[in-house]
Amino acid sequence: MSHVFLIGYMGSGKSTLGRSLADALGLPFHDLDSLIEQEATRSVAEVIRQQGEDDFRELERRVLHELLAMPAAVVACGGGTPCFFDNLEQMKQAGTVVYLRLTPQQLAARLKDGQASRPLLDGIASDDIEEHISKHLIMRQHFYEQAHLIWDAESADLPDLVRLLNHG
Ligand code: S3P
Repeated sequence: MSHVFLIGYMGSGKSTLGRSLADALGLPFHDLDSLIEQEATRSVAEVIRQQGEDDFRELERRVLHELLAMPAAVVACGGGTPCFFDNLEQMKQAGTVVYLRLTPQQLAARLKDGQASRPLLDGIASDDIEEHISKHLIMRQHFYEQAHLIWDAESADLPDLVRLLNHG
């Protein structure tokens, strides 16, 4: 089996599902943000706050390319990974891309209390989060929906996803 890339908005559960999926498929698991943090020796939030988003996106692309050359794995991407450069195309060529889809309402409920660790949500009042996510998703949806598989993250069942990935 080749790589499985999980994409989707912040808070969609890419890392949590990724770990279970990797176990079920017998593949290693990698979290792209964690690999970036190892390389930068700082948190993603610090990289973005100190160097800006453009530098972060360059670093993200470099680490993604390193990952593409590694043995097959389940990879939890960052929320913006498929939306920059030719990252999505590269991932689609290297394996199966799965979009974990949630509504803005579901995402807002998950993200409301964790804004401190998410630099792209800095300064947005909890009450405005859902509207912010709706607008942001409109820009990102076009990328996310090019995934090979779209997975409704709150209603779907892991064994079904495992079956689909194993048998196409
Ligand atoms: C980002 C999502 C974050 C992280 C960075 C940028 C984004 O990852 O890569 O803060 O652009 O949506 P998670 O989706 O794992 O939170």
